[in-house]
Amino acid sequence: MLRTHTCNDLRFTHSGEKVTLSGWVYHRRDHGGIIFIDLRDRYGLTQIVFDPEVNAKAHAKAEHIRSEWVLQITGTVRPRGEGLENLNLETGKIEVFAEDIQIFNESKTPPFEIDSETDVREDLRLEYRYLDLRRVKMQKNMKLRNDMVHLIRNFYHNADFLEIETPIMVKGTPEGSREYLVPSRLHRGQFYVLPQSPQQLKQLCMVGGLDKYFQIARCFRDEDLRGDRQPEFTQLDLEMSFGEQNDVMEVIEDMLHQLTEKCAPQKEWKKYLINGRFPRITWKEALEKYGSDKPDLRFGMEFVNLSHDAKNSGFGIFEKAEHLFALRVPKKYGELSRKDIEDLTRLAQQHGAGGLAWLRTGEDSGPVAKNGTPEFLQVVREKTGAQEGDIIFFGAGEFLKAVEPLGAVRSDIGKRFGLKNPNEFSFAWVVDFPLFEQKEDGTLQAAHHPFTRPNDEDIHLLESDPMKVRAYAYDVVMNGVELGGGSIRIHDSKLQEKMFAVLGLTPTETEAKFGHIIKAFQYGCPPHGGCALGIDRLVMLWADEHTIREVIAFPKDQNARDLMLRSPASMPEKELREQNICVLEAE
Ligand code: AMO
Repeated sequence: MLRTHTCNDLRFTHSGEKVTLSGWVYHRRDHGGIIFIDLRDRYGLTQIVFDPEVNAKAHAKAEHIRSEWVLQITGTVRPRGEGLENLNLETGKIEVFAEDIQIFNESKTPPFEIDSETDVREDLRLEYRYLDLRRVKMQKNMKLRNDMVHLIRNFYHNADFLEIETPIMVKGTPEGSREYLVPSRLHRGQFYVLPQSPQQLKQLCMVGGLDKYFQIARCFRDEDLRGDRQPEFTQLDLEMSFGEQNDVMEVIEDMLHQLTEKCAPQKEWKKYLINGRFPRITWKEALEKYGSDKPDLRFGMEFVNLSHDAKNSGFGIFEKAEHLFALRVPKKYGELSRKDIEDLTRLAQQHGAGGLAWLRTGEDSGPVAKNGTPEFLQVVREKTGAQEGDIIFFGAGEFLKAVEPLGAVRSDIGKRFGLKNPNEFSFAWVVDFPLFEQKEDGTLQAAHHPFTRPNDEDIHLLESDPMKVRAYAYDVVMNGVELGGGSIRIHDSKLQEKMFAVLGLTPTETEAKFGHIIKAFQYGCPPHGGCALGIDRLVMLWADEHTIREVIAFPKDQNARDLMLRSPASMPEKELREQNICVLEAE
């Protein structure tokens, strides 16, 4: 070994021992003749002293040393003098007097300070990610990620789930995103696809009698990126046979209880439990009350449904609207200026609203006050419980168009007025999702994925009124973020074929895309269901970070590029030809 101890091992009790440490130079200070170096490794820091009277040769070498050089130091542990102890440091009661020094490697001056917490441009951090990873915050995040994945693995091993690796070169899984393609050299013109998730393979594991499967699975999706999305990311993926919705939810929830208790002990979360479990809320209720299928439940501000009062409101847009919802912002939370209201209007528009009607009670200003009948204004005040000076925002139109923009406004207000307590985790299950959603062109697509089982009570509506069909689908959400989602699956090949037909696939298309799964279901498929959680999102929230890039060792940037490896990159013509690829000129 090139060291006897790590940089966080030595204590007062080691005084007098001869030790060897290896690590990076964190700080170097020259105090007129005596040189101090803080030597750093993953575990911590130790102060090294170069005193010419102890060892003149080592001291002479130390004069040239700079930040981030890699050293091996041999020396003797001594207690620090009285008043010189650093109680913020675990090794702060001792220092090591260097007797020998070996320089393993020098370092160019890093493009940013490793030791500072000052903001560094993210593109620079990503280009030099290996240096960024040396910083305390990233080291902490990587350790936390390790601990969380370790706990998750142990949990499911102990619950008798089998960890099974599924292939990365597969055939497309239609889960809504564009896929990454891998050309086949041997089969000209044909492609593998990188999995969006192991969805079909885990279901085939159930047909294979493996009963309970899990995997820490890498997934790939070519979609627009945001803070909580990466083109490649990691899921805890799980599937079980002979389980019902409740069984899957419990085995996920129990793990999350442990994960919170062990890896985020500082968070308050139990006060949100109902009889010791995460609250459950239907998709419809979540949208009606909070305008989101991943509501942040750390604060109230529930909507009031005024759909029945809209007809004679005197306000044209409301009178024509199928639904009308109101959101009261109490004055006691803070003031909203005209400019704030304009910003919120833009936000509502970004979420699909035509505008954002509002009313300030008391002075009765705002567009609704100008046009609304006195009776309507009275009903609004009564039903929302508005006090003088409160502002009420309205969402009107078709159901989703009425509630979703208002949900975005609610979330913004929550943030603006500090209603989202950062010390709390508020978990919930959202259940009874619709089976389908409507695309812009009016055609149907699966809301979760096409393997999700329709609710038995609604199955008769599958062809006649598909938008009314609820699914056995559930999401686990926390603080306004979707942590994961899953469903009970269709296990009957006939129903699965019908599902594809409702989604507009011809029998020939179904056979070409999903023949393998229909075939498998004909050989004794057990009832089964599962769930997948985004590991990156879990670690992001547990680490109090705002993007998943902070908890991934080597993430892509916002444009899906790896700035360190400089990928994607063009390929030599010869290799392209071998792979039967021809790149078209940009138009
Ligand atoms: P779904 O598509 O809902 O379900 O994904 C499950 C969870 O994976 C995470 N996630 C992502 N994380 C980072 N970057 C992304 N681009 C990204 N996309 C998704 C989210 C999400 O909740 N096969 C189904 C699960 C099942 O039915 O069992 C699936 O993948 O946290």
